[in-house]
Amino acid sequence: MNYIDNVEILDFSNFKIIVSKINGRYISVEKRVGEDKEKLIALLNENEFFSEPIYPKTVNKGKIKTVYISLHISSDCNMSCTYCFKTNRSKGKMSFAEAKEFIDLMINTFPHAGKYIVDPTGSGEPLLEMDLLLSIGEYCKKKSNTIKREVLPMIVTNGTLLDSNSVSKIRNAGILFGVSLDGDKKRNDFFRTDYNGNGVYKKVVKNIKAIKDRTLMGVAVTLTRKNTDLVSIIKHLIKYFPTISIKPVRDFSGDIGVNLNNVEILKQQYSKLMNFLIREIQKGNTEYLAALLNGDDYFGKFILRTILRQRVFTRCDAGIGRFSLAKDGRIYVCPGAIDIEEFEIGNLKDGIDLDKREEIHKIMIEKKKCSDCFARFVCGGECLVNSYYLSSNMNDVDYVMCNLKKHLFKLSLLFEHIIKKTKYYNRIFLACVEKSKRFSEDLNVTEYLNQNPDVSFMDIKMNRDKYLEKERK
Ligand SMILES: C[S@@+](CC[C@H](N)C(=O)[O-])C[C@H]1O[C@@H](n2cnc3c(N)ncnc32)[C@H](O)[C@@H]1O
Ligand code: SF4
Ligand code: SF4
Repeated sequence: MNYIDNVEILDFSNFKIIVSKINGRYISVEKRVGEDKEKLIALLNENEFFSEPIYPKTVNKGKIKTVYISLHISSDCNMSCTYCFKTNRSKGKMSFAEAKEFIDLMINTFPHAGKYIVDPTGSGEPLLEMDLLLSIGEYCKKKSNTIKREVLPMIVTNGTLLDSNSVSKIRNAGILFGVSLDGDKKRNDFFRTDYNGNGVYKKVVKNIKAIKDRTLMGVAVTLTRKNTDLVSIIKHLIKYFPTISIKPVRDFSGDIGVNLNNVEILKQQYSKLMNFLIREIQKGNTEYLAALLNGDDYFGKFILRTILRQRVFTRCDAGIGRFSLAKDGRIYVCPGAIDIEEFEIGNLKDGIDLDKREEIHKIMIEKKKCSDCFARFVCGGECLVNSYYLSSNMNDVDYVMCNLKKHLFKLSLLFEHIIKKTKYYNRIFLACVEKSKRFSEDLNVTEYLNQNPDVSFMDIKMNRDKYLEKERK
């Protein structure tokens, strides 16, 4: 075997990191390691660089930690953001009866999951459907009490309708919410506008400032060519949100998002962000890092997986633990796949097609175009929906995004190498462990409920959340 084909050697200023392309293991070594090939091969063997990982063969027999239940309740919106996926807003709304039926169907199909997350955001503005949202929230509470596991409703809103009345109603219904904002006024208002083309930054920030308790509130930032200065974005948004998730826009016109012309600039911006995070950590400030790790940030995910040595075989859990109900009763593998026939995986009447689930899982695992990539065990492969839009081939990759993702993995490795030497590393490691547990069953709650069957799930859960919050402070 030619070992060199199976590893990637990443050269940094005074050390190297070697990554196995076979199983994703990696080690950092001194610069001179590698001069003696025999010794290097022995070192790689010692670190099990050439052992094949055990790929999951079947998905239907596996246990899932969390089931994501997404409800496409409506496409109506009071805004008209230029980059929004949904330019053709299909009419029609979901009824509460359908929402309820889908939640029940998912819980009955996957009765042993540790947690269920219900997301009724849809592809419009969820707060326009307040009555339906509140009914879904109340139903989730009821369901949590019945099955004695968490059924947690979560939404993302554009923030324009968040007044004291709506906030207290959503919170009382137990619904967690995040707000979309793309940075400061100039950056946000370029794409996030109302139907008259006016930016909504001022209005949204005014609404957010009026919310006293923002402990559990996150911000969703859509990364476009107009807001690439990541350090400025997070410095600005940390004033309002403890959790920040920045994700590249999905854009097939090539004009709005990451493309050949701007990918190098974006890579530099991510390098700057990494250096900024390191400088802050060296000063003892882990707040920015925590904000990125807390949510669903694109780079944060790479950092988390690197620090925890997590290896993934699929990019996400579309069709494995994530299902999305369209307004016509069809079920798709994720919200982005709605209306694409190839991604239909069942319907309300017949339930989930488990053979199709197996088929989708197989496609995600195979990813032939990723077989030689050193980043594949942290990246997991291209998004199926993106691949489909790129070339109608679910196995395709987007080379521009690959360029960016490989850079993010390199940065995560470098980041880990540097922060390991700081006295804050343990704190960061534990925060990563906590975050990775967040979307699974809280075993302490389960154990308590097993011993006290008459206690309601929501009561004990609320008490535990308050306790954890106090501990965190
Ligand atoms: C479709 S919106 C629905 C919820 C709500 N109207 C809002 O704007 O938050 C949900 C999220 O998708 C993001 N989004 C919209 N179009 C996108 C695109 N083309 N690519 C990636 N994200 C997009 C929005 O910025 C928002 O954070
Ligand atoms: S507010 Fe949300 S749904 Fe509405 S146009 Fe903007 S991104 Fe799309
Ligand atoms: S999608 Fe690209 S970056 Fe990700 S594993 Fe495949 S080839 Fe590597």
